[in-house]
Amino acid sequence: KTEVPILLGANTRVLKYSARLLRGPANTIKTLPSYLGPILHFEQGQKVRIFFYNQIAAPCITHWHGMHVPQIMDGHPMYAIDHGEQYVYEFEVNNPAGTNWYHPHTHEVTAQQVYRGLAGLITISDAIERKLALPDGEYDIPLIIQDRTFTADNQLHYALTMQQRMQGFLGNTILANGQHNPTIPVKTRAYRLRILNGSNARIYKLGWNDGSPLTAIGTDGGLLEAPQDFPYIMLSPGERVEIWADFSGRELGSELALKTLPYHGFSMNMGGRGMRGSQDRMNDGSRQGKEATIIRFAIQEQVSDSPQLPHILSPIQRFTEKDISNPNNTVPIAIGMHRMTFNLNNRTFNMLDYANLEKIPVNTLQRIRITNTTPSMRGGMRGRRGGGMMNMMAQPHPIHLHGQQFQILSRTPNYGDSTYAEVKDGFINHGWKDTVLVMPGEEVEIIKPFMDYTGRFLYHCHNLEHEDMGMMRNFFVE
Ligand code: C2O
Ligand code: CU
Ligand code: CU
Repeated sequence: KTEVPILLGANTRVLKYSARLLRGPANTIKTLPSYLGPILHFEQGQKVRIFFYNQIAAPCITHWHGMHVPQIMDGHPMYAIDHGEQYVYEFEVNNPAGTNWYHPHTHEVTAQQVYRGLAGLITISDAIERKLALPDGEYDIPLIIQDRTFTADNQLHYALTMQQRMQGFLGNTILANGQHNPTIPVKTRAYRLRILNGSNARIYKLGWNDGSPLTAIGTDGGLLEAPQDFPYIMLSPGERVEIWADFSGRELGSELALKTLPYHGFSMNMGGRGMRGSQDRMNDGSRQGKEATIIRFAIQEQVSDSPQLPHILSPIQRFTEKDISNPNNTVPIAIGMHRMTFNLNNRTFNMLDYANLEKIPVNTLQRIRITNTTPSMRGGMRGRRGGGMMNMMAQPHPIHLHGQQFQILSRTPNYGDSTYAEVKDGFINHGWKDTVLVMPGEEVEIIKPFMDYTGRFLYHCHNLEHEDMGMMRNFFVE
């Protein structure tokens, strides 16, 4: 059994996870030179025990995002511990090879605890992945993307205006692994990039600065069946994507930059140009859809051989309609709003409460329909002020479900949403997912397994300000 104590330390402004290994393989913990938590590396089938010590002056609990673990190991907010207390996690790693992450899940303060530094990557490998001989070691690069706003004396700034409460916090500085606009030296060969959007609310439109396609090899829950090229990839908070980045054939001394490409924020476009202008001013240059360079790769060393991109990656058992346990009663997740607060199925979060529609029989495969019908879709408010209100309400929501990874069955977009055309080619609609971006007016159907474990498992918006405002519910698996 691998044992890892995780220590939550803090000075007043930055919080940090740290860990050391008590027992287990030496490569279990890799540190990143930043405020971010260490990378925990596990093998499929490995049994791990993690001692979580809370040394910050506030309650906290840690969740292993993407991992299929028993309910009491999942970091539900009802298990938050106080300063000086300890929570012992024990589970067997049964996820396939891929990139997951851990972060706090504390009631109503998840957004600020993550913002102040609490997040770390979990990498898992398995036998199938080892046979592929993907780039590893220094050629396997973790990339955690977050946005922050700094005060004049370079401290983290976190305060929500009314608009930020509705849209989520958008910082004006984009960080890669805790650094602003870093350049990393690379060789003329292939690399594996494990990208996590660890931001509170920012949605990235990832692309190379020279316009070449991005080659995806993995999604939230693991490797794809086969690599696939995308002109750009949309990555919303909580989502991961793994990229095959091949620098062979590139000129020594040249650079390639990974950017977030510009798009028109999200709006119903009912207020017209004037409204967009004023939205930008209110957001102080940090609006959603802002273009920025995230990280640069400097080609600095010539090498003669590089691993080849495998044609086939990892087999995925594809769920079909025939496998569904609830063909006649699809589970609804209806995104709505009441009194300037987003909700799910007309309810806001309550630690213990669940309705009939949220009871799920264990060991079933459920079809779930997520609908993003914000009030503006029904029309009503017009004119300049109305347009502004609608911009705030017609928002995309990254919906995350705890427990096992799901598959996307279908997407029914709202073509009246002018932003859709700018983002639609960047959705990866196959492979294992635990978070899906649902655009304004869109309906997404997924198939999700609920195997092995009973109890309360969360589903929520991974825009962390939305989560904290109560856009979260429990599935009661029994
Ligand atoms: Cu990454 Cu319930 O969260
Ligand atoms: Cu999660
Ligand atoms: Cu949301």
